[in-house]
Amino acid sequence: MDTKIDEIADGIFRLSTFVPEIGPPDGFTFNQFLILGDDPLLFHTGLRRMFPSIRAALERVLPSDRLRWISFGHYEADECGAMNEWLAVAPRSQVAHGQTACLVSLNDMADRPPRILQDGEVIDLGLGKRVRYIDTPHVPHGWEAGVLYEEATSTLLCGDLFTQLGNRAALTEGDVVGPAIAAEDLFGYSTLSPTMGATIRTLAALSPRTLALMHGPAFRGDGATALRALADDYDRRVRQASA
Ligand SMILES: [Fe+2]
Ligand SMILES: [Fe+2]
Repeated sequence: MDTKIDEIADGIFRLSTFVPEIGPPDGFTFNQFLILGDDPLLFHTGLRRMFPSIRAALERVLPSDRLRWISFGHYEADECGAMNEWLAVAPRSQVAHGQTACLVSLNDMADRPPRILQDGEVIDLGLGKRVRYIDTPHVPHGWEAGVLYEEATSTLLCGDLFTQLGNRAALTEGDVVGPAIAAEDLFGYSTLSPTMGATIRTLAALSPRTLALMHGPAFRGDGATALRALADDYDRRVRQASA
């Protein structure tokens, strides 16, 4: 197992592990994002069994014990399976997530008490980096789902939104909407709900310049237009499902 690491925005690194056995013949990537600062943050921990490979890649940029914050989109193995492994190697680190994730799962499952973030709350990481936590319940799945937005670089850490197959370059300016629609057709991983499109449009209002996909390349460009197109497609799916 080999994990790559690339800088996709100023001070934001994408760690990516490609698994050809998932979704063949294209395969599937699992990505984590490291934001540097006085208090560095890791978004997604990776699967527990990927921990040694992901840790080795992270250490090319930062000693693991310097991590201060561990956060992720929702409570699933690829998002947070290695949470306690990171807490063990980074003694000053703490899990940070929304109220629902903490009260429902993390207060029990994390080896140290998590920090509960209110919707819209900002953590100042230092060195100019500020991450805002945004509740996105059930989008794309999980009651406790949320995303992070790094304000200085306008980077939306959008978790499973825009999930796609394949192993493209770390950063693309190409289409990320078409491949996301294809992956949704294949996996059906999202909770189709009447409010899904509206939730995604609130993220479009941030006008992100970079979308950091958990499963796919990072996208640099007009993030608002991509998010609105994705929202429109989910609206279409909801209409179809309820027709
Ligand atoms: Fe997920
Ligand atoms: Fe995921």
